[in-house]
Order: sequence, then structure tokens, then C-alpha cells
Amino acid sequence: MSLETVVILAAGEGTRMKSKTPKVLHTVAGRSLLGHVIAACEELQAKNLRVVVGSGREQVEAHLSEIAPAATTIFQEHRGGTGHATQLALADLTPQGTILILAGDTPMLTGQSLAQLLEGHHAGGFTASVLTAEHPEPTGYGRIIRGDDGSLLRIVEEKDADEFEKAIEEINSGVYAFDAVKLAGAIGKLRNDNAQGELYLTDVIEILRNDGGKIAAVCIDDFTETLGVNDRVQLAEAAALLRDRINEKWMRAGVTIVDPATTWIDDTVTISADVTILPGTSLTGKTAIGSGAVIGPRTSLDDCAVASGAEVKESHAISAVIGENASVGPFTYLRPGTILAAHTRAGAFVEMKNSTLGEGSKVPHLSYVGDASIGEGTNIGAATIFVNYDGVEKHQTTVGDHVRIGSDSMLVAPVTIGDGAYTAAGSVITEDVPAGAMGVGRARQRNVIGWVLRKRPGTKSADAAASAPSNDQEG
Ligand code: UD1
Ligand code: CA
Repeated sequence: MSLETVVILAAGEGTRMKSKTPKVLHTVAGRSLLGHVIAACEELQAKNLRVVVGSGREQVEAHLSEIAPAATTIFQEHRGGTGHATQLALADLTPQGTILILAGDTPMLTGQSLAQLLEGHHAGGFTASVLTAEHPEPTGYGRIIRGDDGSLLRIVEEKDADEFEKAIEEINSGVYAFDAVKLAGAIGKLRNDNAQGELYLTDVIEILRNDGGKIAAVCIDDFTETLGVNDRVQLAEAAALLRDRINEKWMRAGVTIVDPATTWIDDTVTISADVTILPGTSLTGKTAIGSGAVIGPRTSLDDCAVASGAEVKESHAISAVIGENASVGPFTYLRPGTILAAHTRAGAFVEMKNSTLGEGSKVPHLSYVGDASIGEGTNIGAATIFVNYDGVEKHQTTVGDHVRIGSDSMLVAPVTIGDGAYTAAGSVITEDVPAGAMGVGRARQRNVIGWVLRKRPGTKSADAAASAPSNDQEG
């Protein structure tokens, strides 16, 4: 039996987050809380997805148009409770088939558990099925009240629970499968005579039961899946749990993670087998790592493509492409638009942006490379700066193949260095250097003989100069 509708409740203010950002837009492991819930639901291939939005509506809608453009949004202007939000979600819907309802703040849920809930729901012909878990710290969650025969009687919210009910460890995950027609018939019967003065979706269980409905409570093994994020402490908890889950997945797929506790990998990252990740590393966004690459320690890569065999240590890169067997770091900063071809090197204290480095070329030490295109087999001497900004506009530098840029050169853009050319160390290059030429752009050195003895008599320098072996000081 297929799933007709998924409804995600995401209109709450999330007051406990104390944030300008709507709660469901806070991110863990590279997705918003809402994004995780949607990703889990995607596996179920429901015919339609409806999201109830309210607080921070514009922001949530903008986010949804990016991650789930097919979703229908329903506006809940005032918080009336999860039952009220569900009423709105059903208002213009012709009820049919199965409807899955869940909250937008439970990022740990897996598609697998949702599928398991639906399977049992359909197999048993239930009117409603609730996903539950035995929770070691149930405070704050709704509690599952079962009858003597073990069947689900009702759900009691923390704020409405008595001492006996509070002692129950089985909690409501906030995920339900319903027979849509039966739910539509019952949802109007909710009343707000409770501690919060809200319409609780949880109360629909008792209503359906009293109407003769068949109710299931499906208890899942891993209670961490039901974690609802209501404040920043729970946000960090979810982040750590997702980190462990994601790291475990990659280790089982053949990735060596030396220190999983300090390795943070977004849900959206892909890693090939035989990659090694060293401590203190974070891989975020759409980063993809090829086989045999070694990343870290203390490296962060955001939206980067790293080819096989590359090595990136103690470095930060954003939207960069790192070629096969390239070597980056330590202490390298690659900004958007950096493309390193195969067998290249970007070494210590090098910053690059919007620049390509051709195959086998090297920027080994202490350089800034901005808005440049560098050919193959070229070496950029230590402390070279690509002077790309004239204070108003950025300009382009082109460096050919097999060029040798002398140490401490300033390449003042726009400028072109031809194939096989050299520049003299310490040059300020303001004009093009033709292929094969040596560009020299510096003052000729002169030595003022005897200057120290005349101008700094009695200093250690003067003494050293006076006793130097081939001292020509008196000229
Ligand atoms: C809810 C459940 C509780 C369960 C817990 C699981 C109810 C009454 N209680 O409690 O039994 O253990 O989830 O995490 O359902 N929302 C709206 N409109 C509203 C109110 C809430 O869209 O008017 C949304 C929120 O944005 C949130 C979800 O519904 O995504 C749950 O609301 P929340 O206030 O977090 O409920 P809990 O107190 O956690
Ligand atoms: Ca919640």
C-alpha cells in the first residue's frame, strides 16, 4: 500500500532556541532540522508533502523552495497546538489512503524506521500507529499510556501528567501513521482543556480508540532516533549523535577515521573507500573525496572536490577543486574558484582564490594567488604576491607553462608572463614578460663601502666588520 500524504508540522516558534532563526532552520550535519526530516521522508515516496509553517514563515518557505520545491505549504498564523496545525493541513485535502504526520524538529529519524512504522500500520490494518521509544530521560516528551493488555490507550503530555505517568519511560516520538479518512473525521473533535490550552494532536489517539479504531504503538530499538530538538543543548546532542552515525557509516564503507570524536562530516558529503581522515577534520556541504586521499589533521573542506591520492593537511578550503595526487598544506587557505590540477602543490601559508594551477605546478611557500591562470610545470617562488586589486577593481594574471617566478615577486595585474619565462627575485612586474625572457623589475644594488664603521662606530656590527677576514673597510 502506498503512502498518500506526508504532513510535517513546522510552525512552532521554537522559543526555547532563543534565536532569530526559526527552529526548524537550525542546521546539524549539513542540513536544517526540517531538511533531515524531509530527507528521511523522501525514501517513502509519498504522493504529496505538506508542511505547516508559521513562525519565520518567509524564511522557512524560501528554504523549502530550495530543498523540496514540490512541497505545499500551509500557513498557521497563531500557535494553536499540533492538533490545530493538523486541522489546517487537512482543511483543503480530500482524505484518502495513509497519512504520515511528523514534526519538523526530529532530525535523527531514519527513513527505515518510518518505513517500518508504515509496514506494520498497513499489515495490521490499523487506524492509527504511533512510533514510540523507551527513553532513559523521558522528561518533556508525551508519555505512552498502555492498558493492561498492552494496547495504547492515550498519550499524556509532560505538563498534564501525574506522578505515575511521569514515571513512564515510553515516549511519543511525534510520528504517526493514520487512516486519512478516519483522521479527518476525528480531528475536529479535539478540545483545548489541557495545561497548555492547545489542541493536541496526541489526543486524537484516544478519540479514535473510543470510536472503535484499531491503534498500534510501535516501539523502536534506538531511542536516539526520536530526539526532538527544542533548545541548543538538544541541538548539540543531535549533532553529536548524527556525527557518530555518519562516521560509522563511512568507516563501514572502508574509510579510515582516526579520531571519530573530532571528525565532523555532513550528511551531504561523499567519500570513497581507502580515504584516511586525520583528527580535527570537518567535511561539509557537497564535498567529495576520492580514494586514497589523506585529509587532515585539523582541516576543513566545504563544497570541495578532492581527487584520489591527494593530501590536504592543516588547511581550510571552500569551493575548491584539488586534483589527483595534489598536495595542500600545512596552513593553506583555498578560497572559491581555486582549481589545482593533478600533481600540483599549494604549500605552507599560501592563499589562493579564483585561480587555476596547471598540472605539476607549485606554489610552495608564503604566497597570495588571486585571479590567476597558471600553466603546467611552473614554479611560483616563495613569497610571491599576485597583486590583483588596484583598490577599485580586480585584474587577471596569466602565467604560462614551465615558468620560474623568482622569490618575492610582485605580479601586478593585469599582466602576462609567457611560457618558459623567468622573473628575477624581488621584482615588481608591471609589464608583460615575453616567452623565454627574464623579467627584472628592481633597483640595482649598490654597496656603500665602510658605512658601518663611519656611521655606527663602537657597535658590535662595527667590531665584527673591523675583524672580518677580507676586510676592505678602509677602501
Ligand atoms: C510533541 C508531542 C509530544 C511528543 C513530542 C516529540 C504534542 C501535543 N506533543 O511535543 O507528545 O513527545 O512532540 O518530539 O503533539 N507545531 C506547529 N504548530 C503548533 C505547535 C507545534 O506546527 O501550533 C510544530 C512545531 O513546530 C514542532 C512540532 O509541531 O515541529 C512539535 O511541537 P513542539 O512544540 O515541539 O511539541 P513538543 O512539546 O515537543
Ligand atoms: Ca518538540
